[in-house]
Amino acid sequence: MPYANIEVRPLNPAIGAVVEGVDLNLELDDDTCRDIRRAMLDHHVIFLPGQRIGPAEQLAFARRFGEVEPPHPVFDVVPEAPEVTVIEQDGTAASLYNDVWHTDVTFREKPAMATVLHCRTAPETGGGDTLWASLHSAYEALSPKVRDMIEDMTATHDYYMSFGESVLAGRGGIEKLARDIVALPPREHPVVRTHPETGRKGLFVNRTFTKHINGLGYVERDHILRMLCEVAEHPNHQVRWTWRPYDLAMWDNRCTLHIATSNFTSPRRMHRITLLGDKPCH
Ligand code: SIN
Repeated sequence: MPYANIEVRPLNPAIGAVVEGVDLNLELDDDTCRDIRRAMLDHHVIFLPGQRIGPAEQLAFARRFGEVEPPHPVFDVVPEAPEVTVIEQDGTAASLYNDVWHTDVTFREKPAMATVLHCRTAPETGGGDTLWASLHSAYEALSPKVRDMIEDMTATHDYYMSFGESVLAGRGGIEKLARDIVALPPREHPVVRTHPETGRKGLFVNRTFTKHINGLGYVERDHILRMLCEVAEHPNHQVRWTWRPYDLAMWDNRCTLHIATSNFTSPRRMHRITLLGDKPCH
């Protein structure tokens, strides 16, 4: 069905589209927001290039699609808008992180529904692209026998896997980690998730937070998890974006993985907002 209020240019059949005809400095009407949401559901990640907005406008845009999550437990935030997480690296080797495939905050019982990312500073040296992968496309690429095998499996997702060491190394690390472990215990999610809005099935595992598949032997659970991650990370399911300042991306966190490349040597600053999601279901 065509979009009445926006222009949508798909980047490939699996994932990704550029949305044009929207200025986030202006208040969006309900029909335009409905089209934008549909574009996200259809293409999983959408790009709105050159949106010269600040944190307040980014928040207003995000709020048209859901409830904003509380501040992230580890990352810095914009002081005047604490729901906006700052992902900032100066390009020196010590500052680089985030170059592991993940789905945002799957360590929560209800991982984020969507993420809105705004580029404030793009590396002058080039690099720092972000890639996304469609977990629907990955699931559909599995052979029917493997799909049957994993259909009812669950996996454990753990905050500690990614953040444990860095939190421990920070100021007051032991106390913070002790608090976080109580507040953010490991969570069990289905390995195959049915999308709550489209009904389409997708894989729901990632290398950053998925600790193991439940109910299997040690060797099996590691190998099957690694195999599923490798299938999901295949280039067939991906789209890649090279950032320019003020580009904005919104993605459906229920059916995508993403990774930020660390191949840059000058500052990169992104503002991120995540929207509350629901409990993943088989
Ligand atoms: C993220 O991992 O949520 C942010 C990705 C990026 O900085 O490109």
